[in-house]
Amino acid sequence: MSLLKQLNLTNLPSHIAIIMDGNGRWAKKKGLLRNLGHQSGAKTVREIVEVCAEINVKFLTLYAFSTENWNRPKLEVDLLMKLLISSLKKELNTLQKNNIKLATIGNIDSLPAKVSAELKDVVEKTKNNSRLTLTLALSYSSREELIKTIKEISLKVKNNLISPGNIDESVINNHLYTRSLPDVDLLIRTSGEQRISNFLLWQIAYAELYFTETLWPDFNKENLFEAILNYQNRERRFGKTSEQLK
Ligand code: IPE
Ligand code: IPE
Ligand code: MG
Repeated sequence: MSLLKQLNLTNLPSHIAIIMDGNGRWAKKKGLLRNLGHQSGAKTVREIVEVCAEINVKFLTLYAFSTENWNRPKLEVDLLMKLLISSLKKELNTLQKNNIKLATIGNIDSLPAKVSAELKDVVEKTKNNSRLTLTLALSYSSREELIKTIKEISLKVKNNLISPGNIDESVINNHLYTRSLPDVDLLIRTSGEQRISNFLLWQIAYAELYFTETLWPDFNKENLFEAILNYQNRERRFGKTSEQLK
């Protein structure tokens, strides 16, 4: 029986973020080149996006390429960029059909021109879709995002547009790449690593963290339901006592 039946569809995480890790190890285990791991990982993205739209998760944010990933061998980076372009071209129809809006966070201008052009095109074409917002983190670093935010706010302070005393959480939120997204409810990382790797440091302040040994290419909708079920069995206290929540 699918775990879907056990889910409480009225208590879904509104925003799920995923650190999609383990493509390389998946390929290595099979004696394949790393790149085939990435290709297989792209199929997982498709399945997970579709199922999130089906069950009505409103926001899905995927860590696809970190700023630190630029330090990988050039051949791997080039192939990842190619894979991104071909996936975007291939998936546009599915995004439209399923009413999914594509968004990006990260330093998009640092991507090869062809990639950023393709991204801008799909973002523009899907901007009025409303069932699910799929955000791809590309050339993303949370610390870089925070530095950018601090610089922008400082400039506004200098120009008397904001007074330092008025800087609060919402001012910070409004300057992040994620300004139109709610806080993350559930953060999933595949492949057994238990670290954040510079992803959404501010936005996961009160997220529930879920780590699974499953490698990203092997992750499927049942694994996602398992993660959501686990999330639903937790008590999110936000600093209060358990009794206060009753
Ligand atoms: C995640 O898989 C994909 C990216 C970071 C682009 P990895 O490529 O990191 O796979 P492992 O961690 O080497 O197994
Ligand atoms: C994190 O995975 C980045 C993405 C999933 C895109 P990495 O494989 O790059 O992370 P580390 O370096 O092992 O922490
Ligand atoms: Mg990795």
